[in-house]
Amino acid sequence: MNRRNFLSNAALIGAGSTLGASPLLSSCSTQDSKPVKQYTPEELGMFSFVNIAPDGKPLKAALVGCGDRGTGAATQFLKAGPNVSIIAMADIFKDRLEGSRNHLKEKYKNEVPEANCFLGFDAYQKVLAMPEIDLVLLCTPTHFRPEHFKAAIDAGKHVFMEKPCAVDPVGIRTVLASSKIATQKGLTVVTGNQRRHSRAYWEAYVQVRNGLIGDIVSGSAHWDQGAWWNKKQRPEWSDMEYCIRNWFNIKWLSGDHILDQGIHNIDIVTWFMGMHPTSAVGFGGRAQRLTGDIFDFFSVDYYYEKNRKMLHTARQIDGTENNVSEQVYGTKGMFTTRNMGDKTGIRIEDYEGNILWAYDYKAKPEKNHYDQEHIHLVESIRLNKKINQATDLAYSTLVAIHGREAAYTGKAISWNEISNSPLRYGPEKYELGPLDFYQEGVAPKPGVAPSQPM
Ligand SMILES: NC(=O)c1ccc[n+]([C@@H]2O[C@H](COP(=O)([O-])OP(=O)(O)OC[C@H]3O[C@@H](n4cnc5c(N)ncnc54)[C@H](O)[C@@H]3O)[C@@H](O)[C@H]2O)c1
Repeated sequence: MNRRNFLSNAALIGAGSTLGASPLLSSCSTQDSKPVKQYTPEELGMFSFVNIAPDGKPLKAALVGCGDRGTGAATQFLKAGPNVSIIAMADIFKDRLEGSRNHLKEKYKNEVPEANCFLGFDAYQKVLAMPEIDLVLLCTPTHFRPEHFKAAIDAGKHVFMEKPCAVDPVGIRTVLASSKIATQKGLTVVTGNQRRHSRAYWEAYVQVRNGLIGDIVSGSAHWDQGAWWNKKQRPEWSDMEYCIRNWFNIKWLSGDHILDQGIHNIDIVTWFMGMHPTSAVGFGGRAQRLTGDIFDFFSVDYYYEKNRKMLHTARQIDGTENNVSEQVYGTKGMFTTRNMGDKTGIRIEDYEGNILWAYDYKAKPEKNHYDQEHIHLVESIRLNKKINQATDLAYSTLVAIHGREAAYTGKAISWNEISNSPLRYGPEKYELGPLDFYQEGVAPKPGVAPSQPM
C-alpha cells in the first residue's frame, strides 16, 4: 500500500476515533524520516483532568477585580472542590463589588463579611495583607496585572490570574521576574488562557510534539468577530472612571483587542511552535469603533528562525467574517481548531484532507475550560503538584504586544527591541480624576500623513 492510500484508509477508519494513538499511523508518518522522540503526556506536563479537586485544608481566597470575569472566576473557584471559599474582595467601584458579592451570596451561599471588602486603587494591598488569605484571583483590567501579581507573589499567596498579564514590555518584565520568585517560593500560578486547560488541546499538543505533523514550518492564529462591547462617557464620571469602566476600548488598560482576544490564539501557536518570533511586521487601523482609542483590525506577519512564519489576524467589525481559530502547519500535516464553537474541530489533517487524528469528544467529554482551570488550581495547591503558568503567559502576551506595536508603528520590530523596550502605557499615579494624556477617539496612526492633494 502506498503512503497516500494508507492515509486515506486510516482517515476512513478513524472517523470519530482517536487515530493519533495508533502505532501504525505514527510508524507510517515517521518511516521516511529520522525517528522522532516520543513523549508521554506526563513528560510534557499534561494536567490530570479530574472532574473535581481533592478535599484538603480549607482554602480561602480573595477576589481582586469583581467584574464579569472576576465573578465568573470566583464561582468557578467555589465549584472546583470542597472546602473552598472567597473571604475578601477588592475593587475600585462599590457597585461592581456589591454586584459580585451579592451574586456569590445568593447563588453560591458564599458570604463575604463587610469588613473584608475594600475599595480603591490600594484595595488589593489590603486583601494581600490578610494572613488568612491563601490565594488571590486577579481579574482587573489587564493594565494592573503586573503590579498586582508582583504584590501577591511578594505576599506569598498562590495566584489565579486572568490573561493577558500585561499591556507593555515593562509590565512583562515585572511578571517574568515575579514568576521566578513564585517558582522559588513553591507558589501555584494558574493563568486564564483557558485553552491551556483543555484536554483536547493538550492531546493535540502531545501528537504534534511526537511528530504527527512532521517539522513545524508555520502557524496562523485568528480572532475575527463582530463589534465588541463599549461604554459611553457619562457627565458624572471623571476621565479615570470612564477609562476603567470602558477599559476594553482603552489602549492603556486593555492593550487593544489583539492582546485581549488575539492572545488566546497567539498563545496556542506560541505553545505548539515552542519558539518566539525574531521580528514582526503588521498593519491595522480604526474603522468603526464608537468609543475609546484602540484599533478595529490587525494583521501581523511574525517571522521566526529558519524561515518559519505565523500570520495573526484580529478584527472586530460587524457584518464581516467570523474566524476564531488556530492552525499549526508541519511538513506532514496540520493541526487545526477550525472555528469558535466547532467542538469537533480539534484535529490533525494531512494535505490530502485525510484526518490523521481527532479528539474523541464522545469518549472523553471536556469540562468547561473555565471550570477546569480552577480544578487545576485547587488540585495543584492541595496535592503540591507544582504549576506556574506565568512565564508562558508572559511570553505569549509579549508576542501579542510585539504584533500590536508593529501594527501601531507600521515598522518591522525585532524581538530584542520589544523585549528590552522601555514602553509603558498608562498614568504614573492612579486616582479618580482627569487624565491629561488620554485622547478619546485618537488611535495610533502608522506612517507619515499625506501632504496636501495636488
Ligand atoms: N479568559 C477569558 O476568556 C476572559 C474573558 C473575559 C475577561 N478576561 C479578562 O479578565 C479581565 C477583566 O475583564 P472583565 O470582563 O471582568 O472586566 P469588567 O470590567 O467586567 O471587570 C473588571 C473589574 O475590575 C475592577 N477594577 C478595575 N481596576 C481595578 C483596580 N486597580 N483594582 C481593583 N479592581 C479594579 C473594575 O471596577 C471591575 O469591577 C481582563 O483582563 C480580561 O482580559 C478573560
